[in-house]
Amino acid sequence: VTEKRPISIRIRCISTIVLLFQAIKTFGYKPVIVVHGILDDAKDLSHLTKFITKHHPGTEVHTLDLFDHYHSFIPLWDQLDTIKNFTAPIMQKAKDGVHLIGYSQGGIVGRGLVQTSNDHNIHNFIALSSPLNGQFGDTSFINWLFPSALKEELYKIFYTHYGQLWSIGNYWKDPHHPLMYRQYSDYLAALNNESLREDFKFPSSWKGNLLRLKNMMLIGGPDDGVIAPWQSAHFGCYNKEEKVIPMRKLQMYQKDEIGLKTLDETGRLQECTIPGVHHTLWHKNETVFLDCIAPLLT
Ligand SMILES: *[C@@H]1O[C@H](CO)[C@@H](O)[C@H](O)[C@H]1NC(C)=O
Ligand SMILES: *[C@@H]1O[C@H](CO)[C@@H](O)[C@H](O)[C@H]1NC(C)=O
Ligand SMILES: *[C@@H]1O[C@H](CO)[C@@H](O)[C@H](O)[C@H]1NC(C)=O
Repeated sequence: VTEKRPISIRIRCISTIVLLFQAIKTFGYKPVIVVHGILDDAKDLSHLTKFITKHHPGTEVHTLDLFDHYHSFIPLWDQLDTIKNFTAPIMQKAKDGVHLIGYSQGGIVGRGLVQTSNDHNIHNFIALSSPLNGQFGDTSFINWLFPSALKEELYKIFYTHYGQLWSIGNYWKDPHHPLMYRQYSDYLAALNNESLREDFKFPSSWKGNLLRLKNMMLIGGPDDGVIAPWQSAHFGCYNKEEKVIPMRKLQMYQKDEIGLKTLDETGRLQECTIPGVHHTLWHKNETVFLDCIAPLLT
């Protein structure tokens, strides 16, 4: 005697299977932490969040709603202290690790989070048009802060104790005043092992922390219009003639001081260079997302 199952049970079976598949798919994507840029807030990055959940449904996206707007000028070590407290529980909950995306200034904050966290479980770190090796250019927000100041003069403000109370001062890299940069830059010089200060001696653990990454993706392009030089998004910086020294020509790379060379030689340092994208559009461009970001968010 064959007993036919009531239709409601069959439907329940099917929906359980569907749920199971969805769950498996969802478990496949690691949570993503996003750090916004200067004068932004989390809402400004909503396009990026939409792209992530559209192409990788079920991904948990945590866009940090911290240091919004004018608060983004707070010195970066102070920002990092708070950001660590917010990201630690997300990382602890994510048994298989997380991915980290930093946009603009958020990328240099993200870089600090990776290098200085001895217990991070960040798999892939993506820096989306970030001044990873400093900023030296007149851009709208600097003109707004210090109207009529020329980039050549700004070192007089930024390379002082007072100037370091501005986040931009923390990664201002004036190629004409390298010693002042190494003396005063509180943050970038420390992360780059370029600081002359005793209190910023580069701990060897910071290299290990960078090398725990599975991949580091650097994204930038010549039409950025804000990051100066734009190659800073790929760790380039100006020399005294304001010609760009590419990452692989830097001492920091060649002596593998912070781990860049090892990352590169093990195939984990990736670069995307895309023309035609203005600074404010990187996180709104789906082509950029699909070509350079999505492949790393699995
Ligand atoms: C971060 O958390 C620690 C431990 O709970 C606390 O002592 C510290 O004040 C917090 N820092 C910030 C900036 O919130
Ligand atoms: C950092 O720089 C100093 C001085 O140039 C050097 O002695 C030291 O080995 C560097 N640290 C690392 C981790 O390479
Ligand atoms: C995104 O960037 C690409 C590459 O520059 C460009 O061709 C495309 O038009 C951009 N898309 C949008 C929607 O702006």
